[in-house]
Formats: sequence, C-alpha cells, structure tokens
Amino acid sequence: MAHEELPVPTYSSLGPVYGEGSPLEEAQLRFDRLKAKFVDLFGREPDLYARSPGRVNLIGEHIDYEGYSVLPMAIRQDMIVAIRKHGEEESRKELRIGNVNEKYSVCAYPADPDQEVDLKNHKWGHYFLCGYKGFYEFVRSKGIDVGTPVGLDVVVDGTVPTGSGLSSSAAFVCSSTIAIMAILNNNFPKKEIAQLTCECERHIGTQSGGMDQAISVMAKSGFAELIDFNPIRASDVQLPAGGTFVIAHSLAESQKAVTAATNYNNRVVECRLAAIVLAIKLGMKPEEAVSNVKTLSDVEGLCLSFAGTNGSSDPGLAVKELLHEEPYTAEDIEKITVESLTSIFQNSPTSLDVLRAAKDFKLFQRASHVYSEAKRVHAFRNTVLSKLSDEDMLKKLGDLMNESHYSCSVLYECSCPELEELVKICRENGALGARLTGAGWGGCAVALVKESIVPQFILNLKETFYQSRIDKGIISNSDLGLYVFASKPSSGAAILKF
Ligand code: ATP
Ligand code: GLA
Ligand code: MG
Repeated sequence: MAHEELPVPTYSSLGPVYGEGSPLEEAQLRFDRLKAKFVDLFGREPDLYARSPGRVNLIGEHIDYEGYSVLPMAIRQDMIVAIRKHGEEESRKELRIGNVNEKYSVCAYPADPDQEVDLKNHKWGHYFLCGYKGFYEFVRSKGIDVGTPVGLDVVVDGTVPTGSGLSSSAAFVCSSTIAIMAILNNNFPKKEIAQLTCECERHIGTQSGGMDQAISVMAKSGFAELIDFNPIRASDVQLPAGGTFVIAHSLAESQKAVTAATNYNNRVVECRLAAIVLAIKLGMKPEEAVSNVKTLSDVEGLCLSFAGTNGSSDPGLAVKELLHEEPYTAEDIEKITVESLTSIFQNSPTSLDVLRAAKDFKLFQRASHVYSEAKRVHAFRNTVLSKLSDEDMLKKLGDLMNESHYSCSVLYECSCPELEELVKICRENGALGARLTGAGWGGCAVALVKESIVPQFILNLKETFYQSRIDKGIISNSDLGLYVFASKPSSGAAILKF
C-alpha cells in the first residue's frame, strides 16, 4: 500500500522514532520530564502520547496555497503531546493544556468543539484548540460518532524553535490532532490527516497551504518529500550524497498568526487578485473569474495557451505581458473585476483584514514569483534524479536555492535585513546555495554545504554572525546549537503507547 494510505504508526517504545544512542537517551529524558509534569499538574499519568516533527523547506516557498508542489524534509526537533481523557463521571468538561516550558502558563477551554478561536486574543493554547475543532469537524463530516465531548488533560513539550520558519505551529497542531484522534480510538490514512490538519491550522487565522502539515505527518526518515496537492501526495526524494543542509536562525522571530493581515494573508490575497486579473485579461468573463478562480494554478492553463501562441511554454510570459510592474490600487483592480474587492472577499474575514491594511497590491511581482518558484521545484527534483556527478548536482541545487531566495526577497518581499545578512554570510563561507525557509519575514535560512566543510562552516557562522549577538546578550553561547545545526531528513508523526 502507498505510504500515505497507511495510518499513523503506533509504537510501544521510543526506538522506532528516535533511533539509538544519545538521541534516544535525550528523548527518554524528555518523555520522563513530560510525564512528571503531567502528574504534577493533573495527579494522574497520561494515557498516551503523540509526536510530530518540524520541517525545513528546501525549495518551493509560498506556492503551496497556490496549488503547486513543494519540497521539504522533516527535522528531528518535534512537539510531543501527552494526553488523558476524562471518564464520563468526571464533572469538569474542560480542555486543560500545560507546557513543560514554564514560559507558557496553563490554558483552559470548555470541551466544546463548536467554540470560536479568539483570534483577537492570541494564546499559545489556541493551536491545540485548532486541532480539537478541526478533528470534530472532520469526524462529523464523515459521519463518525466519537461520543459526547469529555474533558481532556494535556501537557506538551516542543523543541522546534518558535516563529523560526521551521513550522513549530504545524508540529503543534499535528501532534495535538493526532493525540485527540488516538485518545478517541480513531486512526486514518496519513494523507487524510495531512489534509485535515491543514484545515485545523487555518482556525488560527492564517490562510496557510498544506506543506507543513503534510511533511510533518507523512515524512520518512532518510528522505525529503516532493509534496503535491489536490490530492495530497508525497514522493520520496533521495538527496545526493556529499551535501548537508545546515539550518541557521536569523534570530528575528516572526509570529505568523499575529502579522497575518500585512504579511502572510496579504500575499494569499495578492495571488488571488493576480489570478483573477490574469483570467480576465485572458478572456474570461469578470463574474466567472471572480467566482471560479482561486489560485494562480487555476489560470495556468490559460497562461500556457497564451505563451504557446507566442512560442513559449512559460506561464510567466502572460504575467510579463498582461500585468504591470506598478502596484495596483484597489480602484485599478475593481475597474477590471467590475466588482468591489470587499464584495469579492465578503466570506473571508481574514481577507477583509488584509484589504483594510493594504495600500496597494503587487500583482506582477507576486505572480512572477509563484510561477518561477513552481518551476524551480521541478528543476530541483529533476536535478536530483539526473545523472550529473555529485559535484555538479550539488552546484545546480545550490544555484536553484539562490534563485529561490532572490525571488522570495525581491519579488515576494518576505525576507528581512537579518535574513539577508545571514544568507550572504552563508554564501561567503562556502555554501553552494542559501535561502530563507518557511514563511520568512524572520526565522531561519537553509544552506546547502559540502559535508566535508560542515564543522568549519558552522564555526565561521558563529564568528561572523552569532558572536556579536552573543556579546550583546541576545543569545547565550551555550544555546548556539539550538540556532545553527546540520539536519538530516527525519521521520514523521507517531503515536506512542507504553
Ligand atoms: P513558520 O510557520 O514560518 O514555519 P512557526 O510555525 O514556528 O514558523 P508560527 O506559525 O508563527 O511560526 O507559530 C509559532 C507559534 O506556535 C508560537 O508563537 C506559539 O504560539 C506556538 N508554539 C509553537 N511551539 C510551541 C511550544 N513548544 N509551546 C508553546 N507554543 C508553541
Ligand atoms: C508557512 C505556511 C506554509 C507555506 C509556507 C511558505 O509555513 O504554513 O503552508 O505557505 O509558509 O512556503
Ligand atoms: Mg507556522
């Protein structure tokens, strides 16, 4: 059976997830500490645990929500959720969520899957609630009876750095959803859980695509994955020998849910508008474009026909010829759509927030990024499959990563000064390619580095990027390993019952 058709695996020991030696010992310590915290808070032991990893995206940024394939891999850092279900006789029908990290105080919510997530009052526990609501929506849509909601006691322990482009949020939402699923005696094919958890996370107010959840749920140790959408599918990508991906934090934290109206959701709205305008310019009736065109992949066919008549196979040609570089005002666009933007987005409160915050819309730049980035993902995959020598292959992959960064930075404008400095330093110190990873506006860079120079590369980054920040007290020397590390492709989500 295809890997994504299988349910989330359940293990009775830590070995299958964490391997052996010191990673296993560290994991054992984490589970012991998590259980102790659970008993301390709730006076009972958890019934089971679920874990799901963070990820680093190697290439394919800000295109998943436009329907295009992406190429991430799971990292070893993960979120573990310990959970206990109350008996029917226990009167407190509440979700109580504690955290091993003292920085996060206990959050409590009623055990009511229909409650709204209070987006104006952002709390860390909201991510658990996203999984809870989404899980109930899913089982109800399938007609599965999971009984009347009861209280749940929960404690989490996360090692994915937050707001860093490594998807701590998806690790949190996926492990929560899977813990809830398991405690309610259900399990589903991974591809369904990948889709369901993607919808779960949208309850936090970001209109995110499905990359983070798909890789967190479906990852396989030793492989990056090419993730396709509609329907979700994962194909193993064996990375070339001799190259290592080093992840380095710019130390600028970017909280996606908090900045959604000006950053993440803004780009989703700009892409939708670019797609609608392109469709109309390519002959679709305005009302048809407004009601049917959701993403740039929806108009790719039209763009390709246009390109074809001009002797090209690049959908980007339509962007070049039919959109202008000058930013569009709302009025400019409304002249084309013959409908007001507030009416086009009337059913999406988070998009209306975007319209209120936006001055103008860079349709040309965003669409150019999306079509070119989608091509780079396939070029990356084809390079890995090619017969090039390892040396040439690594160089080509590095070039694609550099081009991706340029496009993210200049056309999509999701970089920041710290990331620009870090990416430049990576390249100056021998990286074959380096780029921002994840949503951007802060967070991490990923660099492709020849395996033989990795220790020296990390030392050089320490000297040229981190030392001044250590001197200023922004991070401590002993924590450096949390902010810059080499990463191998790790395994995906799992349920643990001891
Ligand atoms: P990106 O989405 O760019 O890949 P990210 O997922 O780390 O990066 P966000 O989507 O902004 O960034 O999610 C970060 C938020 O997730 C934190 O602000 C916090 O609310 C929540 N979170 C993640 N991990 C933990 C944790 N271990 N404990 C508590 N809250 C956490
Ligand atoms: C965030 C989202 C993903 C994806 C990336 C950018 O991590 O959750 O769906 O859009 O940003 O590539
Ligand atoms: Mg996130």
